[in-house]
Amino acid sequence: MALKLGDTAPSFVADSTHGTIDFHKYIDGSWAILFSHPNDFTPVCTTELGAVGKFLPEFEKRGVKVIALSCNDVESHKGWIADIESYTPGAKVSYPIVADPTRELAVKFGMLDPEEIDGKGVPLTARAVYIFGPDKKLKLSILYPATTGRNFNEVLRVIDSLQLTANYSVATPVNWNQGDKCMVVPSLSNEAAKEKFPKGFETVEVPSGKSYIRLTPQPNVD
Ligand code: BEZ
Repeated sequence: MALKLGDTAPSFVADSTHGTIDFHKYIDGSWAILFSHPNDFTPVCTTELGAVGKFLPEFEKRGVKVIALSCNDVESHKGWIADIESYTPGAKVSYPIVADPTRELAVKFGMLDPEEIDGKGVPLTARAVYIFGPDKKLKLSILYPATTGRNFNEVLRVIDSLQLTANYSVATPVNWNQGDKCMVVPSLSNEAAKEKFPKGFETVEVPSGKSYIRLTPQPNVD
């Protein structure tokens, strides 16, 4: 069963390139991203893990712990890291890669892709992105097939959006980027919004006459 938004992260203890990891203890009190891979020594995965290695300071800036998972053992992961760092100059895979050689964790998290089958006829693990909040609940998931590499700029963008919602009760509109206007969430009354947003908000007039599109400057930008 795939994880649903709001579900608590399944707990697990597994080997990783950083030794044994207890997932709940690892993420305790932080935002965390778990992203999965079909296999070590595969081309698309190699590019992705390198990109994440380069983006680590961006994840750290946002207080997000990073953890990867791939369906091979730790020895294999350690050998693969040399290739990843060589392919992406400047990348350091200093975050843990969890070993899931039996795909037990992939099943537990609902990450399998029935369309991509390995030589033994077993479904490969898809490219899942799971972002958990400090309460260990799932805030966002994106699932890509094995053949499509992820866009980690987009992953950082959605983390910024999630954290704005968690901290300031704003939503982010289509194609939002850092510094753009945000939207007051519909659950907030105008009175509550006036108190909450010292910079104020504007209500956009629309043909229906309903006052539901309310824009406010990004709260954490001066
Ligand atoms: C890759 O990482 O390149 C890949 C892995 C499994 C299936 C297809 C592509």
